[in-house]
Amino acid sequence: MKHAKQLPLFDLNPQASVEDKIAYNGIPASRSTFKAGLSALVHRWFRLTPSFGPDLVREMLETLECDSNDVVLDPFAGAGTTMIECQLKGIVSYGIEINPFLHFAASTCLNWEITPEDIRATLTKIHERFHQLDTTNDGDDRELNIPHIHNPTRWWRPDILAQLLRLKQTIDELSPTLAISAFLRLGLAAVLVPELTNVTLSRLQLFFIDRSSDDIQVWETFYNHILDMVSDLDNLRELGLKQTSKIILADSTQISDIRFAHPINCVITSPPYPNRYSYVWNTRPHLYFFDFFNNAQQASLLDKATIGGTWGTATSILAKGNVLPAYPIINDVVVPIITKIRESDPLMANYAMKYFNALASQIVSMESLLAEDARIAYVVGCSRLKGVYIETDTLLGKIIEGLNLGYRVDKIERIRKRNSGKDLHESIVYARKN
Ligand SMILES: C[S@@+](CC[C@H](N)C(=O)[O-])C[C@H]1O[C@@H](n2cnc3c(N)ncnc32)[C@H](O)[C@@H]1O
Repeated sequence: MKHAKQLPLFDLNPQASVEDKIAYNGIPASRSTFKAGLSALVHRWFRLTPSFGPDLVREMLETLECDSNDVVLDPFAGAGTTMIECQLKGIVSYGIEINPFLHFAASTCLNWEITPEDIRATLTKIHERFHQLDTTNDGDDRELNIPHIHNPTRWWRPDILAQLLRLKQTIDELSPTLAISAFLRLGLAAVLVPELTNVTLSRLQLFFIDRSSDDIQVWETFYNHILDMVSDLDNLRELGLKQTSKIILADSTQISDIRFAHPINCVITSPPYPNRYSYVWNTRPHLYFFDFFNNAQQASLLDKATIGGTWGTATSILAKGNVLPAYPIINDVVVPIITKIRESDPLMANYAMKYFNALASQIVSMESLLAEDARIAYVVGCSRLKGVYIETDTLLGKIIEGLNLGYRVDKIERIRKRNSGKDLHESIVYARKN
């Protein structure tokens, strides 16, 4: 077992309250959010709006003094920012992600053993075939496999959908290996929303827009993005890096039976925030277009299991009855807030209770995977539900200590005010085992 590392403690007083450990971090939003990843090596292959920026991961790795002797876990892997950054530094890391499309995206971003020349050669063949099918439609008497999403032409203009499906089929038919087809599918997924779909992205939602008179260029949009990805592969080859990361498709509130080769020393993660953002709703075009889902029930089941906002059936289920606190510490610190929300909105109260129960379950669930000297960093956002302020950072700090698993909160670094509200912070909650 490694010796416990000494963190630069913000407050060494064991009596200090979680509130006393609040500090401020000046990192600008341009570096802490997904926008920072839009031009960064590999991170730009696929970006999720709620992804955090690579700089933030670098900063957390530094604060936790995490290096290639450590093993990192991200239980809410999303598009894989933590694992990509770890792999660039030669650090072994594992990710857990519940959404099968995001699991695919993050896993594909971590496979750097594809030869750029093979991609270029495949791309040339795909272009010829796609162009031939697109201009003549000759020989294309195969059925187009229309995604089983409700009302597909609301999501895609019919001519664009036909082109996209032909491109997807051509990728699958002409890719010499599964790894190459995954790489090219990921490139297509990255430009699907918002470029090639009838939606635009706002902070919490996708919105449908009229694109009937837009000039939408399927091949050019796809091709230009793949060229960026291939140029990153060229650069990676020069760096000579090996694959040191793995993403597992699982529910991170139920991971106690997973066995890794080494205990985890560092956890760097960003769970969903207590707002109405639904990862399932926002990745619906990808989940259906790339055949992860073929019916609405699959989407509802995933939405029910995923932490964070819900929609449709998952919301109706949540509206029934009262969700109860799952741990004594949740009863102590979360119930008083839930009681206020419940006065005006029982659904939102259930929603917030489920959220904090799930965060606590996730922390308990990873207990058997951790080293004795584990350090953790959780990026969370505070929120306002029905006018009631939810100070997620201090609540999480109290939950982490109050679960009695031996954690002590070191500091809570508030990063920035979010656009949506003056008192809405994003924070990093740092804690460690004794
Ligand atoms: C804030 S995002 C993480 C973004 C990530 N840091 C990145 O840079 O892309 C939260 C992620 O947690 C995932 N998630 C939600 N509930 C989960 C659960 N129970 N188990 C595993 N993953 C879950 C969501 O699908 C989403 O991808």
